[in-house]
Amino acid sequence: MLDRIAQLEEEALHEIKAAQDMEALKELRVRYLGKKGALTALLRRMGELDPEQRPAAGRKANNLRKKIEELLGCKEEELREAAAAARLEEERIDVTLPGAPFKLGRKHPLTLVLEEITAIFTGLGFQVARGPEIESEYYNFEALNLPADHPARDMQDSFYFTPQILLRTHTSPVQVRTMELTAPRLPVRIIAPGKVYRRDDDATHSPMFHQVEGLAVDRGVTFADLKGTLLLFAREMFGPEQRIRLRPSFFPFTEPSAEVDIACIICGGEGCRTCGHSGWLEILGCGMVHPRVLEVSGYDPEDVTGFAFGMGVERIAMLKYGIDDIRLLFSNDLRFLRQFR
Ligand code: DAH
Repeated sequence: MLDRIAQLEEEALHEIKAAQDMEALKELRVRYLGKKGALTALLRRMGELDPEQRPAAGRKANNLRKKIEELLGCKEEELREAAAAARLEEERIDVTLPGAPFKLGRKHPLTLVLEEITAIFTGLGFQVARGPEIESEYYNFEALNLPADHPARDMQDSFYFTPQILLRTHTSPVQVRTMELTAPRLPVRIIAPGKVYRRDDDATHSPMFHQVEGLAVDRGVTFADLKGTLLLFAREMFGPEQRIRLRPSFFPFTEPSAEVDIACIICGGEGCRTCGHSGWLEILGCGMVHPRVLEVSGYDPEDVTGFAFGMGVERIAMLKYGIDDIRLLFSNDLRFLRQFR
């Protein structure tokens, strides 16, 4: 019996030491200490011994049980630590490696120009107003003194949802929408930036483009205020020496109306290809708000006057950055877009 215990001890020590993983350890625990295990079987056979041999054999067997349990515990700990160390080694971070580059985007040139225009006018006391891109025939045309049979409607052929609902062709409807909300309070000073839509598509026209509308209404607003405001804008935008020129024009919602040119920023007014050898570049339309527009919007044209203007943002961006095809602004080519900041 004592020999058998010694033999078991040797075997157990050897096998536990050799175990490679938790699975093997579990199996060994069952094999030696389990209900049908080798040591358990041995203990059961104590009864076969002589009574004087039993205490010594019993002590030995119990000691061996404790020893095996201890060894299994130690080995388990050892295996656990080895596994953790292996995982750490595998996931080791080399802090000296360069980090993953974080790619910074840029603002679109149109956003840059829009922000610049907005900053100039908010600096002059204008607030930013907005209107819907899906507009009613009433605000887009009728309220702006463009009745259904007016020939000027043809110049702004658009995208219609129904005969009464269309994609707005300009930002001018925001004039009326704003005044309806502010009347009869004075003064009104707003710009309205946003997208507009027309049935146009070539190197200088896009079916979707951006405008900034301007509107100032108060008692005693004059054409001189309009001209002064636009000159200041041109100089902020294109440089302190910039000159402008106003040409008589026609818009149904202003009277009188004008088109505004800036001295060509390529040739300085000498005449070149960009300005068609005229020395001037058109940048916007403007005028004094038509009495009828004031009236339908809730202001008394006998009491107040106003000026308005509308400019194309793409056109300004193209002039400012020397872009010769409007489609570049909408084709999302990073080689193009990366050039602006
Ligand atoms: N809405 C005009 C257009 O899209 C531009 C314009 C002209 C706006 C004169 C105005 C204005 O406010 O007074 O062609």
